Amino acid sequence: MENSVIQQVKQRFGIIGTNTELNRAIDVALQVAPTDLSVLITGESGVGKESFPQIIHQYSPRKHSQYIAVNCGAIPEGTIDSELFGHEKGSFTDAKELRKGYFEVANGGTIFLDEVGELPLSTQVRLLRVLESGEFIKVGSSKVQKTDVRIVAATNVDLVDAVMQHRFREDLFYRLSTVPIRIPPLRERHEDVLLLFRKFASDCAEKYRMPPISLTDDAKQLMMSYRWPGNVRELKNIVERISVIESVREITADVLRTHLPNISMEKLPVLARHDNEAPLLNSEREILYQLLFDMKKDMNDLKKLVHDIMNGSLPINEVDGRVYNPVQTHPTTIHQPATHPSPMRQSPVHQSSIQEAETVEESLSLEESEKEMIHKALERHSGRRRSAAADLQISERTLYRKIKEYGLE
Ligand SMILES: Nc1ncnc2c1ncn2[C@@H]1O[C@H](COP(=O)(O)OP(=O)(O)O)[C@@H](O)[C@H]1O
Ligand SMILES: [Mg+2]
Repeated sequence: MENSVIQQVKQRFGIIGTNTELNRAIDVALQVAPTDLSVLITGESGVGKESFPQIIHQYSPRKHSQYIAVNCGAIPEGTIDSELFGHEKGSFTDAKELRKGYFEVANGGTIFLDEVGELPLSTQVRLLRVLESGEFIKVGSSKVQKTDVRIVAATNVDLVDAVMQHRFREDLFYRLSTVPIRIPPLRERHEDVLLLFRKFASDCAEKYRMPPISLTDDAKQLMMSYRWPGNVRELKNIVERISVIESVREITADVLRTHLPNISMEKLPVLARHDNEAPLLNSEREILYQLLFDMKKDMNDLKKLVHDIMNGSLPINEVDGRVYNPVQTHPTTIHQPATHPSPMRQSPVHQSSIQEAETVEESLSLEESEKEMIHKALERHSGRRRSAAADLQISERTLYRKIKEYGLE
């Protein structure tokens, strides 16, 4: 199956791997490239979808015309139509000038619509029209224009699911997925994990001018059995982190384990990372959110503990001769004794309770600001949860849970 053209493509686009399904995906991309058929690339986040529209463009007769990549999830709903299709001067408040959209600019070329599942329904209608007839209308105009653009779309969400939930038009789905290409998740490419590791390790060695890291046999086993929820992107980030942090260059399973998420959650390495080229992975964000969740749970337990202490016959009950009603133990109330001019009277229990109370207060403000952030994001996106979640860079699932929890319905 592996032929020399596929080899050449891998070399040219820096694609590492010998997995059969990956080879097949490249093969299909090459076969479909010279046609004008729409292609839909599916696969989890981080599997390497981004090379495929480029392969298709470069191996098509359109290669000398424009290639434009659009991340549909990153453009606000209010401006996406005008970005894609342009607008007339004065069509809305900010429209000072006439603007050409990507579909006009890319005439004769290719447009890559990344995260196509995020397109608002109204934009989906315009997209379907341009796909079927090559016709589009600028925002605020009535003039029908023509363009000749080849579309390659990608998604990491299940579009069939989105169609069933009426978030994605069925007719557009069929139109886009004339040729579907599935990129397998890394956990289905065991044979490629070590190849990719070696490639990234040697890239890092060159970049940081250090000897490359290598793996012991048990570390190799661990690498291949790990699930890689963030796929190749996650592997790349982990190799980079290990390359920079570990001074012993042969990595054992024990060392490797400390760099894999379920372990590192306790150590918060994600927060410590200053990686300005790669944004946080969704999986890492999920982990962070989970962490905040757990922290909040702990805080609530602590809060309860403080209440219990206050309830019992512990010295904290007696502050400045007054007895506190446990029900009124708002953190700020407990704070008062700390600044009281007779600190000598405070027992160790009292001190630690103050610290706990401070932590409770922190967790309350954390909760407040999270609530505020979510509220604002929902407002910005006129209640559209999908866009708000994308904006907050959390999954829709997490957002739904938060909305429910905070009663933001
Ligand atoms: N087979 C591969 N060989 C080498 N690097 C890869 C491979 N697949 C993905 N990558 C790298 O992993 C990262 C994520 O790939 P990307 O195409 O952005 O993923 P996706 O768009 O599917 O989320 C990129 O830095 C990319 O270069
Ligand atoms: Mg991508």
